[in-house]
Amino acid sequence: MPVHRLIIIGGKGGVGRTTVAVALGLALARRGHRTLVAHVRARPPLAELYGCERIDEEIRAVGPDLWAVNMDPQASIREMGLLVLRFRALYHLVLENRLVRSFLRAVPALEEYSMVGKAWYHTTEQRSDGRARFQTVIFDGPATGHLVSMLRIPQVILDAVPEGPLTGDARRARELLADPERTAMWLVTLAEEMAVSEAADLHRAARDELQLRVDRLLVNALYPADLTQSAALDQVLRQATPSAESGLDLALRATRLLRERRAINDHYLKELAQRLPLRRTELPMLFAPRFDRAALEPLVTLLGAALEAPQAPAPAVPA
Ligand SMILES: Nc1ncnc2c1ncn2[C@@H]1O[C@H](COP(=O)(O)OP(=O)(O)OP(=O)(O)O)[C@@H](O)[C@H]1O
Ligand SMILES: [Mg+2]
Repeated sequence: MPVHRLIIIGGKGGVGRTTVAVALGLALARRGHRTLVAHVRARPPLAELYGCERIDEEIRAVGPDLWAVNMDPQASIREMGLLVLRFRALYHLVLENRLVRSFLRAVPALEEYSMVGKAWYHTTEQRSDGRARFQTVIFDGPATGHLVSMLRIPQVILDAVPEGPLTGDARRARELLADPERTAMWLVTLAEEMAVSEAADLHRAARDELQLRVDRLLVNALYPADLTQSAALDQVLRQATPSAESGLDLALRATRLLRERRAINDHYLKELAQRLPLRRTELPMLFAPRFDRAALEPLVTLLGAALEAPQAPAPAVPA
């Protein structure tokens, strides 16, 4: 199971990046792979997904071989400052200075860089026995456009800042991002118009601007296919006599709606095959009353199977 040191989860806002990041973390950890899931400002139900009390800026063990952190730009700046400046006294002198603080707040790119830097740093950490603290860091960052500007920052720093501690770290971060052996993006999308077009944009930016390898396409929240493929169901839908009293009417409407949604999914699955001929994993729409760790189980199983599948080449583009 060859797995990258850094897996960047990309995709449009709301397509399920955070959900997939957690499920992938669970799937890796279950295979004995020490994994850190590093979220950037993920929204509150995060702790529920992991089934623990809270997830915040402190790295926490959330299960065997699994750690999680919800990064906050301000806290990351403080930590990055400590890492770069090494000495706490110097840090206080420089970063706790009121003028410097307001300057840092005025430079959003620096906030973002601190998060890329932190994710990079965690891929390099070692335990006392010399082995990597985390074998893989999963980076659940911002959505498409914002992610691209965030990942450009190491190069921007190298172009703009004179040689010094900042450029050393930026150079190592850029090398890690551009190394297809160590880093890959997993692109999450829905089989829907807007998400597909953003996924295609992000794929292009990753390839052409960031030199970042996109390793896999995850098509999330697909409606069930079996409702559209059953001749028996076709017959029932044609023949059934709706009756509001029996609830049959409601069941028929729900079934028709699900079939319509799946037809849209099928259309965009075909389009994805043409526009993004990547190895792909299809994930079902989950109909769970609440999104906790147990509800994620079908995604954990499918992502685990994807990790174990032989490294097949990407499918050919259909004619
Ligand atoms: N496979 C799925 N089936 C059903 N609901 C899902 C699925 N995946 C994600 N969701 C739901 O979709 C919503 C968005 O998911 P999530 O927060 O993971 O997306 P995101 O891409 O991280 O969003 P954001 O851009 O806000 O960070 C959540 O309510 C989540 O529970
Ligand atoms: Mg999210």
